[in-house]
Amino acid sequence: TWSMKAFVEEQVKLIREKVGNKKALCALSGGVDSSVAALITHKALGDNLTCIFVDHGLLRKNEAQSVEKTFRDKFHINLIAVDASRRFLEKLKGVKDPEKKRKIIGEEFIRVFENEAAKLGKIDYLVQGTLYPDVIESGTETAAVIKSHHNVGGLPEDVEFELIEPLRDLFKDEVRRIGAQLGLPEEIVYRQPFPGPGLAIRVLGDVTPEKLDILREADAIVYEEIKKAGLYRELWQAFAVLPDIRSVGVMGDERTYAYTVAVRAVVSEDGMTADWARLPADVLDNISTRIVNEVPGVNRVVYDITSKPPSTIEWE
Ligand code: XMP
Repeated sequence: TWSMKAFVEEQVKLIREKVGNKKALCALSGGVDSSVAALITHKALGDNLTCIFVDHGLLRKNEAQSVEKTFRDKFHINLIAVDASRRFLEKLKGVKDPEKKRKIIGEEFIRVFENEAAKLGKIDYLVQGTLYPDVIESGTETAAVIKSHHNVGGLPEDVEFELIEPLRDLFKDEVRRIGAQLGLPEEIVYRQPFPGPGLAIRVLGDVTPEKLDILREADAIVYEEIKKAGLYRELWQAFAVLPDIRSVGVMGDERTYAYTVAVRAVVSEDGMTADWARLPADVLDNISTRIVNEVPGVNRVVYDITSKPPSTIEWE
């Protein structure tokens, strides 16, 4: 629409005035907020913007490739994609406590990001996809912190950059509209929230490459079936979880002893409260059948029928 167009033009002008010929850096997560912030800034600064995308090895199937394709090939943005999976998995080895996982991932993320940034020479500005609700929330966040919701991609206290935050006055739906207008692919524009620590908090207990592979395959099936049923945009989130349990099953004449996958799907306005989604039985059936048939190492699928509260959306 016209107003969104005018908004983008105005932001482009402001960013140009502010930054001039200096350089800016953006931590791209692949989510809609950082993506739209990067696109607007790219319009303003062109090659003086560099985006860094850190693959911590805890992403979903094809996620890293799709980010690279979109930003490098489609939008011709300077993109540094860092495959840091080995580093992260090494640090996470044997760690079971969810908050410890978050802390390790958050710290490691900053380290990797700073490492890459240091290679670029002097950078004066940092682009962030802060939205209006984030601005409000960070001013009043006093309530009990049940989980440390560090947005990985958040930064240390002693940042030496100035911030560029083109989305500060916007709500999510406005950001999506701008993203669509700027030509961002639908899969990013309407992307469901995905936690910064990624699959590490969906593999319960210690995180191993084997478990991550299983979860990734199962999660891709949940995604595909939810998409196919036309439910993706109605749901706040839909994903697979790998609880640290194995159970007995039977396949042909063989007894199996393999992992259980849990499916989680919720409807919500803002993630603060959520209701478990009443998914059609045939959708659940397709998900279950496909997961046990297509994902080696899984012989059982359960559906999470708790709401938030008392549960949380994530299992860790
Ligand atoms: P919970 O599990 O607390 O999640 O009901 C509420 C929303 O927040 C997301 N979430 C996170 N996002 N880092 C993030 O960036 C985190 O550590 C984290 N933990 C939960 C969750 O996916 C849901 O949308």
